Amino acid sequence: MCGIVGYIGRKEAKPILLNGLSRLEYRGYDSAGIATIESDKIVTIKSLGRVSDLEKATGMDAIKGTLGIGHTRWATHGKPSKENSHPHMDNSNSFAVVHNGIIENYANLKDFLINNGYTFISQTDTEVIPNLIHFHYSQSNETGNKKFIKAVTDTCNMLKGSYALEILANDFPDNMIVVRKDSPLVIGKGQDEKYISSDIPAILSFTKDFYLLNDNEFAFMSRDNIEFFDKGLRPIQKQAQNITWNAGAAEKEGFEDFMLKEIHEQSKSIRETIGSRIQENSLSSLPDLEMTKEYLESVNKIFIIACGTAMHAGYVGKTLIESLCNIPVEVEAASEFRYRNPIINDKTLCLFISQSGETADTIAALKLARFKGARTIAVSNVIGSSISREADYTLYTHAGPEIAVASTKAYTAQIVLLAIIAIHCAEILGINQEKVQELRNDILLLPSQIEEVLKNTNDIKAFAQRVYKEEDMFFIGRGVDYAVALEGSLKLKEISYIHSEAYPSGELKHGPIALIENDVTVISVLTDRLLTEKAISNIQEVVTRGAKTFIVTNQELNHSFDTVINIPKTNVLISPILSVIPLQLLAYYISKEKGLDVDKPRNLAKSVTVE
Ligand code: F6R
Repeated sequence: MCGIVGYIGRKEAKPILLNGLSRLEYRGYDSAGIATIESDKIVTIKSLGRVSDLEKATGMDAIKGTLGIGHTRWATHGKPSKENSHPHMDNSNSFAVVHNGIIENYANLKDFLINNGYTFISQTDTEVIPNLIHFHYSQSNETGNKKFIKAVTDTCNMLKGSYALEILANDFPDNMIVVRKDSPLVIGKGQDEKYISSDIPAILSFTKDFYLLNDNEFAFMSRDNIEFFDKGLRPIQKQAQNITWNAGAAEKEGFEDFMLKEIHEQSKSIRETIGSRIQENSLSSLPDLEMTKEYLESVNKIFIIACGTAMHAGYVGKTLIESLCNIPVEVEAASEFRYRNPIINDKTLCLFISQSGETADTIAALKLARFKGARTIAVSNVIGSSISREADYTLYTHAGPEIAVASTKAYTAQIVLLAIIAIHCAEILGINQEKVQELRNDILLLPSQIEEVLKNTNDIKAFAQRVYKEEDMFFIGRGVDYAVALEGSLKLKEISYIHSEAYPSGELKHGPIALIENDVTVISVLTDRLLTEKAISNIQEVVTRGAKTFIVTNQELNHSFDTVINIPKTNVLISPILSVIPLQLLAYYISKEKGLDVDKPRNLAKSVTVE
């Protein structure tokens, strides 16, 4: 995954690079490094471990340059080590490169370079890039800037795979080239300065004006100028876009961790995602989604495709769309969808959900769906992200930057947006009007109900203290409560490293109940009035076998159970937005009890831009 950052301007680059890298650590933290231009020469400093280790690395004190690039690594090719850290240089130390992505044909390129006399010191795929640039540069008949630019485009024309690259050259101490293909990269615009980053939040404190590069677009930068061009060196005109996120959104603002802050931001993020899309006593408004009644009547299948938490939001979306629009919906993991031969035609509507908008599998699935003739809708939290550029329509969740690796506020914002999409389509179709009207009203109550849920954390904290040493837990639910059970279980695994499984409550008897014995923890979600009796029977079955229970509910339970977390009543279709919060908090408090790094759980990165 990796994060990259860059600066070209008149300030010292080092603090900007280190600050940006520490904000990008959620993308990987196996090693880190920077390269700056010092007295017209590239100097690199790298270190195994985190950005805080890099800050203390030998030579860092002497770094004063005003132009530089940086990298924080999530190892793919080659173990975490200093040699495998970026920036990588060519054999003659003339070019420095940082890379996010994977070069799929690097082995062939390496052979090609070895046959041309080049040697390698790392096991990475990236090291071929500076050497290829050197190869083309040394063979080139071009002069001036074009010589550098052409060497880079010729190199990229040989690369297969994904890459966001920042490149420095000794011969061009006042310039930097960046390019992206299937990996994220944004350029922040300042006064006679530019900030480059894998994501917007990492540089949001410096600027709010951003150039967004499309695939295969290059930027050649000096302090006071920027030129964009494609891989055929044809110039491209680009306007910077103003991003409305505020800089504080990327800070902890008094919370101990980003995850806790983001859990507490859910009332605001839901309010902002609703915005003016749903208002009292009027029809929904989704101007970015141009759907006609004729088209929707022709749709015979909707696919919702996503990964991880976004896919779990998709399960709730399925119930919402099927209930309101009467169209069958299938939810699928993008990594599966992209490699099978899904039956898709022009009567298929495909909805892709991705917080980052950069998840490699989701992007590939989207490209496949388009290729097969489906209409596509992207639901993303990041303006200008890759899926938003690929899809026919994009609808944004307005959750603000999500920094913690474990997704919380993006999930609930995705569900509310899916609810609005379902309402909107049902309104166009002119069906289920009573249900739609009710749901519109219930959606508007959500922000204050979330605040209510967040007031009662003591019982959750106390339960976390009781169970944090356990090794296995079970989550159960029916209908949308099962979708929430899946998400609660994922949160727990991710940040507490406790093994957990989620089952539809009714499935327990078909096998998993064999695992229930004295003192096992079973977490249950119960918000569907029509299924309450049945769900209670399932809970009784585990209690009889000695389980301790943690129940999240908005129903009156006529039985006494271990820990019961009461949440406000709402329409069952959107109840996951409230019922997931105690589960997010439970995972959070358990992780804290265990003394773990909540925001950066082991082995995980925030956006999975590789397969
Ligand atoms: C879990 C989590 C992941 C992401 C998944 C998709 O907390 O964050 O499961 O949901 O990697 O990411 P996006 O939504 O960026 O495509």
